[in-house]
Amino acid sequence: MNPTKSLNVSQTKQSRLASVDFDQLSFGEIFTDHMFVCDYKQGQWQTPEIVPYQNISLAPSASALHYGQAVFEGMKAYKDDSGQLWLFRPELNFNRINKSSIRLGMPEFPKEYFFEGLETLLELDSDWVRPGIGSSLYIRPFVFANQACVQASPSLEYKFLIICSPVNSYYSGGELKVLIEKNYSRAASGGVGYAKAAGNYAAQFYPTSQAMKKGFQQIIWTDSATHSYLEEAGTMNIFFRIEDRLLTAPASDTILDGITRKSVIEWAQHQGIQVEERPVSVQEIIEAADKGILLEVFGSGTAVVISPINGFSYEGTDYSLTEIQNSFAAQAKEAITGIQYNISQDPFGWRYKVG
Ligand code: COI
Repeated sequence: MNPTKSLNVSQTKQSRLASVDFDQLSFGEIFTDHMFVCDYKQGQWQTPEIVPYQNISLAPSASALHYGQAVFEGMKAYKDDSGQLWLFRPELNFNRINKSSIRLGMPEFPKEYFFEGLETLLELDSDWVRPGIGSSLYIRPFVFANQACVQASPSLEYKFLIICSPVNSYYSGGELKVLIEKNYSRAASGGVGYAKAAGNYAAQFYPTSQAMKKGFQQIIWTDSATHSYLEEAGTMNIFFRIEDRLLTAPASDTILDGITRKSVIEWAQHQGIQVEERPVSVQEIIEAADKGILLEVFGSGTAVVISPINGFSYEGTDYSLTEIQNSFAAQAKEAITGIQYNISQDPFGWRYKVG
């Protein structure tokens, strides 16, 4: 890895900001005026650039298109009422994209390039971030293999980009019902489940579309070996509340070490809530539901923040969860968003000031 040489910035001549209706945003469809780009060639990362958001050109033989050598991150920037921009635990995203890259046989990205590029990009496009809980800028760093070669071996050339999209909430509202999956698997032991590998998400599309046809919005993935332990829900980590205990599967090689997940656990422990990070079996969740002591199920992730699950189905039986007052999900969401939007104290040191 080489230290920051410099960052070349070329600004757009014509901002698209005025044409955007911020009340009608559909997640991830509109992108800000600029993007960060850095190429890896001849064994090193080249001078990074910020350029106007634009299409990129690729050889049809570009390796990522054939072998899926590509990873990404999801993070958000928030604006407080004074106009200051904030990030949430960005070091963890930086560390994770490199962890994902290593697993996919790709070069690590230099920290100086990442933070200098990201902060400069956010300052340039700061008018695209609206203040107010729920509004944020979804930041998508990603890296992919772009050597023009169809040999099934690691590429010798890569592109690292950061693009940004103004967003409101991820789910459009309404009930969230999920299916506990027993046939398809998201990840296998020794595989790439812990990485934000592009293909992990593509592999979910078909099973999820089948679940959607049956009236569910997402799948709860179970372990690939026995399908008896609960792992993740769609693109989220998942939590279960049994009486006053909060249960979630441990981050492992099949489970993404989610930053919101980690924050919920740390917040809950700080609140004195008993957190059990251990394999959670389908059996115990069904039994708790039958006894009426399964009080909450919720997903966590950067895009969704915290998303309560209203019901789930297992082997043809539907279970529904009644909304409760002062739920752990609502408390965790309020605590985390309060920190993200600089509304509340940050006893954990999670908030990161941009600029
Ligand atoms: C995120 O929460 O950042 C995700 O990874 C979800 C994304 C696939 C939309």
